[in-house]
Amino acid sequence: MQSPSNTANIEWRDGQPYASEFQDVYFSTDNGLLETDYVFLQGNDLMKRWLDAEMQTFIIAETGFGTGLNFLCAVNAWLATSPENATLHFISTEKYPLSLQDMRTALSFWPQLKAVSEPFLAQYESLINGANTIALYDNRVQLSLLIGDATTSLSKITSQVDAWFLDGFAPAKNRDMWQTELFQQMARLSKTSTTFATFTSAGDVRRGLINAGFNVTKRTGFGKKREMLIGNFIP
Ligand SMILES: C[S@@+](CC[C@H](N)C(=O)[O-])C[C@H]1O[C@@H](n2cnc3c(N)ncnc32)[C@H](O)[C@@H]1O
Repeated sequence: MQSPSNTANIEWRDGQPYASEFQDVYFSTDNGLLETDYVFLQGNDLMKRWLDAEMQTFIIAETGFGTGLNFLCAVNAWLATSPENATLHFISTEKYPLSLQDMRTALSFWPQLKAVSEPFLAQYESLINGANTIALYDNRVQLSLLIGDATTSLSKITSQVDAWFLDGFAPAKNRDMWQTELFQQMARLSKTSTTFATFTSAGDVRRGLINAGFNVTKRTGFGKKREMLIGNFIP
C-alpha cells in the first residue's frame, strides 16, 4: 500500500491552520473547540444519546478529518458520558491528510485536549492510502481513517452510521465534495435513528440532503455563521 500522495498544504495564520488551495479555514477562528461542540456534538445530540446504559457501539462518520479536532472532542465527550464497556467507532474520510508535523503543530493549539491528542498522535505517523485503523483506550475508541475522496471511500463501506459530521470546506470553495453522490452514500449508510449536523446552510446542501431522504432543520449557526443544518434520516 502507498503512503498518501496528496498531503495538505497548510499555511499558518495566528497559529491556526489555513488551506491556501481552498482559501478556507479548518475551523472557526472564533473558537474551534466551541464550534465543534456546538455544531457537531450538540447538533447530533450526542451527550444525551450516550447516556443510554444499553448502548454497545456508536458509529460516527465524518467527511473531512482535517486536524482531527472533531474526532478528539468526540472522544473526550465519549469518555466522560458513555457506558464503560461501549465502543465508539469513528469513521472519517480525508483526501488531503496533514503531515505528522503539521498535525502536531495544529493540535498543540489545544493543550486542554492533550490527554487524547497525545495517544492519537503516537499512532498517526504511518498513514496509507485507503483504510487506517487507530485504536485508543483499550478499544473503547476505534478510528477508521479512510484516506481518499469522501464519496469514493464511503461507497466502499457498509457500516450503519448513528451520526454524521458533515464537514469539509465551504461548499462554494469545495464543490467537488458536496455532490448528490455524497448525500446518496450517506443515505445508504443511515437508518431510522441516524442524525447529521453540518456547519453550512447552503441551499444546494439542504436540497441534496432532503432529496437523499433526510429531514432537514435550520438552526442558528456558530460565531459569524447565521445558520447551520441538522436533521435525521427517514428511510
Ligand atoms: C474544514 S476542514 C475539516 C476540519 C476537521 N473536521 C477538523 O476537525 O479539523 C475540511 C477537510 O476536508 C478535507 N476534504 C476536502 N475535500 C475532500 C474530499 N473530497 N474528500 C475527503 N476530504 C476532503 C480537507 O482536506 C480538509 O481536511
